[in-house]
Amino acid sequence: MKVFDDEKDLLLDHDYDGIKELDNHMPVWWLWLFYFTIAFGIGYLAYYYMLGGPDQHELYEMEVAAAQERYGLEPEVDESGEPIQFEWAYLEDQARIDEGREIYMGNNNLCYTCHGANGEGLVGPNLTDNLWIHGCSAEEVASSIIEGYPDRGMIAYGSGARLTDEQVQSVISYIASIQGTEPANPKAPDPRATECSL
Ligand code: HEC
Repeated sequence: MKVFDDEKDLLLDHDYDGIKELDNHMPVWWLWLFYFTIAFGIGYLAYYYMLGGPDQHELYEMEVAAAQERYGLEPEVDESGEPIQFEWAYLEDQARIDEGREIYMGNNNLCYTCHGANGEGLVGPNLTDNLWIHGCSAEEVASSIIEGYPDRGMIAYGSGARLTDEQVQSVISYIASIQGTEPANPKAPDPRATECSL
């Protein structure tokens, strides 16, 4: 078997049925890249898993805080510096109920096209009876409106996309005001609905 001069030093002792093996070294640049990935891996592990580096959620919070500061959108805080949580409630203030009805019947939001002009239900469930699919607390009803049910055709209205929290508060107050009104042609209850009184 012919062995080239410059391969003599590289030739290993192995001989597999006449097939010989050369001990070719990895290119230096490749080797350094490999060492670099090991060092990077150790550094990454140490920083993020042992030294408490920020995870994705913390990074998100930090970016949101930075954006809020930059655009002057700091959340309102109470005296102790805690952000003020919006408190969902069914208001009895007639002006807010009227505003809620206007939003419900308005052509921007079209609640009535799916839930009926009197809340009797059509595509969407009846909103006047004591049967609810997603709960009947002020918080749950507000969340139904804010998040919507996109896979069932109801878009998300909240978080300022269409309605502000104050407007959602008015709509849920309107919904509370039509409880038990027994409108004509009520939609049959959804089998998933359970009894719940506002
Ligand atoms: C395109 C039709 C459509 C529109 C428009 C729509 N909804 Fe709905 N809504 C639905 C459907 C369908 C459901 C039931 C979701 C499910 O089956 O889980 C629903 C569920 C709800 C629920 C929860 C009911 C329960 O039993 O838990 C509330 C509250 C509600 N809608 C209020 C509103 C309000 C207020 C508006 C307007 C701002 C609105 N919806 C606009 C279709 C609609």
